[in-house]
Amino acid sequence: MVQDVLREPAKAVTFLVLDVRPGSEDTARDLLADVAGLTRAVGFRVPDDRLSCVVGIGASLWHRLYRLPVPRGLHPFRGLSGARHTAPATHGDLLFHVRARSLDLCFELVRQVMRRLAGHVNVRDEVQGFKYFDERDLLGFVDGTENPSGPDAVAAVTIGGEDPAYAGGSYVIVQKYLHDLDAWQALPVAEQERVIGRHKLSDIEIPDADKAPNSHVAVTTIVDPDGTERQIVRENMAFGSPAAAEFGTYFIGYAGTPDVIERMLHRMFVGEPPGNHDRILDFSTAVTGSLFFVPTAEFLEDPSPITSHPAASADGSLGIGSLRRSRT
Ligand code: HEM
Repeated sequence: MVQDVLREPAKAVTFLVLDVRPGSEDTARDLLADVAGLTRAVGFRVPDDRLSCVVGIGASLWHRLYRLPVPRGLHPFRGLSGARHTAPATHGDLLFHVRARSLDLCFELVRQVMRRLAGHVNVRDEVQGFKYFDERDLLGFVDGTENPSGPDAVAAVTIGGEDPAYAGGSYVIVQKYLHDLDAWQALPVAEQERVIGRHKLSDIEIPDADKAPNSHVAVTTIVDPDGTERQIVRENMAFGSPAAAEFGTYFIGYAGTPDVIERMLHRMFVGEPPGNHDRILDFSTAVTGSLFFVPTAEFLEDPSPITSHPAASADGSLGIGSLRRSRT
């Protein structure tokens, strides 16, 4: 069973990125096994508010937690440097993507998680996000429209037969962006629409013939040579502090393989052809970037059914390559 990756858009979110301190692996693994139960306990008090939590595991934590082969697509986030813009890579062992219709539920679940992990983790980032009026981001555009839905969404986010031991899992990339909202708001709306590739009020896409090649929509639309469009599932959230003049978008994208998101990022930051960078970056600075593997809910609760072949551990080695999945 996949974790709760595919949901209707949430109203409130907490993104929590943690590093696990050396020696705290058992505590972290135990907490991961209990996250679904904690989410049920907190969420059941207000079922209509649809609390959910997805947990991702970063590359450098994997071997510290599990004596198992690395999921095929799991590696540290690869930063990017284009001629004008940079996507930094920042460390993260664990991601908690906590969603609900109201922030109190997100807050309470994160509180319960942190109670369990106190003294065992360093907090890299905690961001409380929200949807700005009708599904908009702080640039004022409706965000999420072209997400796939139904079976297309399942196919987009789910690891399949290419990595059988981890089939049903997913990958997630997060990046925190800060906007230069003064510069953005100084642009006429027609120019903002050229940057995004959609109309602002109606959210209707600008036809391909009129769309700027460096618009966000043009740059992030990826089509394979055989004409298949490669999709991801996003759920960006607005965050910020008007008092501190901080205005941001927290990007989160799920995919069955990180390659698709990485290709989008390459097109955004470096450009294809090089130099055709995404104009959204002229008003948005990426300040974090991390990649995580999202195991199935069953794996988190009980990773032991994925066991090493008895012969493999006879010499004390990890037996990577001869590990197999066996459900008992
Ligand atoms: C500053 C951060 C970002 C903002 C404010 C933003 C905003 C938007 C908006 C307003 C749309 C149009 C409506 C929609 O279909 O959702 C969009 C589309 C899209 N964005 Fe972003 N986005 C950001 C970052 C990213 C990143 C980092 C990626 C991928 C690595 C990405 C991938 C996409 C994709 C795939 C689409 C749909 C393109 C299509 O098929 O029409 N976005 N984004």
